[in-house]
Amino acid sequence: MKQLTEQQIMDNWNELRTIINNTFSGERLEKLNKMYDYFEDRMCMAPASGRAHYHNAMVGGYVEHILHVVKFSQEVKSMWENNGAEINFTDEELIFAALHHDLGKVGDLENDYYIPEESDWHRKNQGSIFKHNPELQYMTVSDRSTWLLQHFEIPMTEWEYLGLRLTDGLYEEANEKYLKGFNPQWAVRTNMAYILHQADMMATHIESDQWKRGDKIESDKVMMSVNKIKGAVDKQVDANNEVKEKFNTKSTDAKDIFNELFGEAKKWYMVY
Ligand SMILES: [Fe+2]
Repeated sequence: MKQLTEQQIMDNWNELRTIINNTFSGERLEKLNKMYDYFEDRMCMAPASGRAHYHNAMVGGYVEHILHVVKFSQEVKSMWENNGAEINFTDEELIFAALHHDLGKVGDLENDYYIPEESDWHRKNQGSIFKHNPELQYMTVSDRSTWLLQHFEIPMTEWEYLGLRLTDGLYEEANEKYLKGFNPQWAVRTNMAYILHQADMMATHIESDQWKRGDKIESDKVMMSVNKIKGAVDKQVDANNEVKEKFNTKSTDAKDIFNELFGEAKKWYMVY
């Protein structure tokens, strides 16, 4: 399981604010900064999803996911451009849509979108780490994103709206009318929507891979520790040629093993 340190969470937040300050200007930048100041405490801690097998279901996962989508959308755009696609949008429009496609996951003005899952059954059987906050009025994530942007009077272009609205592609049922139409006049008229969808999909799969690798590292660490414990017990049997004491908890080996098993958990308990 992947976790971010307090320092990584702070670094990610600073990177996000730097991108905003370097990309936008004038009144729009002022309004964006007002919104990001308002949500700072909640946004920097928010997860990007609720379940272990989705993506970035961890404290700080939302901001990390947004940074990935901003980065990947620019890389994917270059690939489309270098291969002859029409690019009829600006980098500012692309970054604006990438930054806000999941804004609704921060919640409404008062309440978080995700709250910690307290049920052991759901944690064990469904991999649920966070659950939807029952205090919230139902809205799709993209509807809430646009609602929040209008609340802070942040204007957006037509392409920015389409981009953030269609980032989930056909994974969002409400997007079918835009993406599955057979009338050529109704086709989406900017590749920005497809580029954002590819960047978002890439980000979620990579985040999911990192999570699985984190799981593997954790299980490898546990196996190494188990083997060390077995080794420590075996050593005492060998030295005495009989089992006098199965495990000396005062030994340096034992302290090392304890720190290896619980050191990280202890650190996280102290931070949160
Ligand atoms: Fe996303």
